[in-house]
Amino acid sequence: MSAKGLSLIDLEKVYPNKHGGAPVHAVDHVSMDIAPGEFVTLLGPSGCGKTTTLRMIAGFEKPTGGDIRLGDQSIRYLSPDKRDTAMVFQTYALFPNMNIYDNISYGLKIKKLSSSEINRKVMNILEMTGLKGLEKRHTNEISGGQQQRVALARALVMEPGVLLFDEPLSNLDANLRIQMRTEIRRIQREVGITAVYVTHDQAEAMSMSDRIVILKDGRIEQMGSPEEVYYSPNSEFSANFIGTANMLYGTVISQGKEGLTIETMGKQLKNIPSDRRFEPGEKCTVIVRPEACSVRESGLLEATVTLSTFMGSYQLYELQIDGRRFTVHENNPKNKHIFKSGETAFLHLDIADTHAI
Ligand SMILES: Nc1ncnc2c1ncn2[C@@H]1O[C@H](COP(=O)(O)OP(=O)(O)O)[C@@H](O)[C@H]1O
Ligand SMILES: [Mg+2]
Repeated sequence: MSAKGLSLIDLEKVYPNKHGGAPVHAVDHVSMDIAPGEFVTLLGPSGCGKTTTLRMIAGFEKPTGGDIRLGDQSIRYLSPDKRDTAMVFQTYALFPNMNIYDNISYGLKIKKLSSSEINRKVMNILEMTGLKGLEKRHTNEISGGQQQRVALARALVMEPGVLLFDEPLSNLDANLRIQMRTEIRRIQREVGITAVYVTHDQAEAMSMSDRIVILKDGRIEQMGSPEEVYYSPNSEFSANFIGTANMLYGTVISQGKEGLTIETMGKQLKNIPSDRRFEPGEKCTVIVRPEACSVRESGLLEATVTLSTFMGSYQLYELQIDGRRFTVHENNPKNKHIFKSGETAFLHLDIADTHAI
C-alpha cells in the first residue's frame, strides 16, 4: 500500500443560502499539509465545517475555491471513484442484502480484479480487522462494533492513498468506542495509511491523532500535536475545546526570558510561560489546567471551596475566587489533606505548567 501526502490549499466552500439570508462559509480558506502515513483529526463543534471538508476531499462536494492535492496530483476536478480515497461513514453504509465477504470485496469486483487476487486481499483484511470466520454472515447478523469493522475493512481493502473517517464511532456505546479507537489506530499504523478523521469528541482526537486541527466557523483555529494543543492552546476556544481550562485574566507588567510578570486579582504572578511577545500594560489570559492547580492552607490566591468530591485517582475541587470559578484536580489524594465545601483555602498554581495568550 502506498500512503500519499494530502494538501488542502486555500480550500473554500460557500453554500448559497436558500432562505434568502447571507451565504454560508462552511469552509473558509483552509490550508494544511498532511504527510504520508499521518493520522490527522479535524476537531470542532457541530457546524464548524468538518464533514464539508471531508466530503470535498472525497469528491462528494465541489469546492468553491482552492485546491486539493493527493500525492503529486490535483484531485479537485476528479470524480470520487478516480480519487484514490475511501471513506468510512458514521452510518457504516453497508449493503444489507450482501454477506460480509461480498460487502468487503464489492469495490475490488468493480475494479475487475481476479477472484484469487480478491480472495487474497479480503482474507488479509478480515484477519487484520478481527472479522475472520464471519465472512458468510449478513450485516444484520453481526454487532454494531463488527459492522463498524466491516465498514473499515471495505475501505482498507481498496488500498486508498488516504482513508477518510466521518465520526465513525458515534453510534457505538462508550466502552466499545474506546476499544475501537485503539483498534482503528493500530490498524492505521500497521497498514501505514494516511488518515483524516473527523470527530467532535476531544478524547477521541487526543488518543488517536498525530496532529489535531481545531476548526471554528470553517477556519483553522489551531493545528498541532495533542500535546501542543493541550499545553499551548492559542486561544480560549482551543483551550476549552480540548480538556478543561481555568482562565486568569491579567495585565502584563513585564516580559523577560523567564516569562511574564502579570497582575491579576490584585496579586503579582511571575515567570508565566508564553509563546508570544507582550507589551507592558497589555491584557493577557493565563490558561491553567486543573492538574496544574492544588489547594493549600496558605498561598497567594485566597479562595472558597465550593465543591470537594472524591473521584478515586483525584480529588475534584471547585473554588471561587473573586466571583470566578476554578476547577482543580488534586491527583492521588490518598494521603493529602482534604478541604471541605464551604472552607477557606488557597489556590496554588504550578506556574511552569501554565500558559499565557
Ligand atoms: N448542503 C448544504 N447546504 C447548505 N448549507 C450546508 C450544507 N451542508 C452543510 N451546510 C452548512 O455548512 C456548515 C458546515 O456544515 P458541516 O460541514 O456539516 O459541519 P460539521 O460536520 O462540522 O458539523 C453548517 O453551517 C451547515 O449548516
Ligand atoms: Mg459532520
